[in-house]
Amino acid sequence: MTLRPTRIAATLAGLTGAAFLVAAASPQPTTVAPQEGAEAAPAAADEEADPLHESMEAMQRNLKALRKLMRDPAKKDEALAAVHEMEAAVLVGLAHVPEPIEKLEGSALIAHDVAYKRLMASVYTTLLDMEIALDEGDADALKTLYRALGGQKKEGHQTYIDGK
Ligand code: HEM
Repeated sequence: MTLRPTRIAATLAGLTGAAFLVAAASPQPTTVAPQEGAEAAPAAADEEADPLHESMEAMQRNLKALRKLMRDPAKKDEALAAVHEMEAAVLVGLAHVPEPIEKLEGSALIAHDVAYKRLMASVYTTLLDMEIALDEGDADALKTLYRALGGQKKEGHQTYIDGK
């Protein structure tokens, strides 16, 4: 999937101290020539790096883990760690807006990109609510929020993945 860097990556760099997140959330320029004497990054690895795909795999992995973890109050810390990983993945997703599945230009393209980021932001808000529900041991709220994540995933995939 082709990605367009957004200015949000620069903003994120100022918001978080997590170096790994900044590295993942900041699309790297691919056309900068290596400095003399510096080891050139292998071109193939650069081309294959797909931060949005990797962030989605992280979402999937942690969502699956969360399903079991959130049922066991003794696993609260592990469940919170899974939510934190999903939050980091959402920030990467926010910084890597996919190409629209149909060609768009001008205002339509801006609206597409904003809608994508709004949906990602709503996933982030759901995850914040999950942190509170985990802390309070609110099993009903957790079930509702888990279902909400599933709905947001479905909406995101129907709207932003070609053919799904
Ligand atoms: C809990 C929420 C989510 C989970 C667990 C999730 C999981 C995944 C997974 C596993 C893939 C890879 C699919 C494949 O390779 O066939 C994927 C791809 C993708 N998802 Fe999500 N997703 C979530 C939410 C979202 C949302 C909210 C959006 C949009 C706002 C979104 C947009 C995308 C896009 C554009 C791709 C294609 C990127 C790529 O793999 O190259 N996803 N997602």
